[in-house]
Amino acid sequence: MKPQTDGSVSIRKVGRQFDISDSWINRKISGKPRQVVNALTDVEFEIERGETFALVGESGSGKSTLARIVVGLLGASQGEVVIDSSLRTVRADGGQGIQMVFQDPYASLNPRWRVERIVAEPIRTLNLVANKTQLSKRIDELLELVGLHPDDRKKYPHQFSGGQRQRVAIARALASEAHFIVCDEPTSALDVSVQAQILNLMRRLQEQLGLTYLFISHDLAVVRYMATRVGVLYLGRIVEIGEVDELFANPRHPYTKMLFEAVPKVDGGRTERTGITGEIPSPINPPAGCAFHPRCPVAIDRCRRDVPRLIDQVACHVANAG
Ligand SMILES: Nc1ncnc2c1ncn2[C@@H]1O[C@H](COP(=O)(O)OP(=O)(O)OP(=O)(O)O)[C@@H](O)[C@H]1O
Ligand SMILES: [Mg+2]
Repeated sequence: MKPQTDGSVSIRKVGRQFDISDSWINRKISGKPRQVVNALTDVEFEIERGETFALVGESGSGKSTLARIVVGLLGASQGEVVIDSSLRTVRADGGQGIQMVFQDPYASLNPRWRVERIVAEPIRTLNLVANKTQLSKRIDELLELVGLHPDDRKKYPHQFSGGQRQRVAIARALASEAHFIVCDEPTSALDVSVQAQILNLMRRLQEQLGLTYLFISHDLAVVRYMATRVGVLYLGRIVEIGEVDELFANPRHPYTKMLFEAVPKVDGGRTERTGITGEIPSPINPPAGCAFHPRCPVAIDRCRRDVPRLIDQVACHVANAG
């Protein structure tokens, strides 16, 4: 086992399968075999303290599954996630102080609770303050920190705009004094202008509080703005990892290239767009060898046979040979 690096989150050989078979009796009647979705296979990377590690990949590539495993909402079938103790806030119940901000803040906030109760809940559960006066002061501080007004504490989630609701969700995440926050598409449901405000808020809080983010977005412009490093997932496997500027300037895996080429480019006044070609195969019966080979423009024989390992940050027989 690798030694634990200081101040980081270590994702080690994480795999996750979902059994989506019919019941035994229905399988006997229909003659259908067991069906297992391979949502994640051998996922391995580190998140350094204070950085924003972004995960990108098409729908169904396993981003949310990994996010849920990292925060402990879901168990891994293989491997483990090790969170450095300096990022962990020890909870009364022994859990880890990792918080998650979801795409739809309305669904993740209790609609029957006022904001003050939503924000107070982690503080109470974790016994972070000594008395009611301190609790009240802490709630005001947190609301101010995320750009809300102390008067907002009496409001219910439905009385806010989408952007404000996401601010409440961020205040709740910070209330637990977590230093590591997992954000799954935190701004995808918001208007572009509001999206920028929330992203700027997250960056400001990261600087102020030294937060570490695992950030998921399908919007590559957002990823470029937020991330320090990026991991590219394809059918549940990491195919490439890189520093954000390096990866955008010089993607090496054919899938990363395809993904980035699908983003509209403004080139000398001309907007050029090349689409993503082919469809993502089924994770129930993934192609043999490199799962990307049926869509890959540069696939060689070996790609149909052997699963490429992540060597020098890229898992591709062709890129690794060149
Ligand atoms: N609870 C579940 N039961 C069965 N299959 C699941 C479950 N959760 C996820 N999956 C499957 O695992 C794969 C990965 O799903 P996941 O939600 O992690 O993808 P994603 O990258 O977050 O996609 P999106 O961009 O659409 O949010 C998909 O094939 C999905 O159908
Ligand atoms: Mg998802």
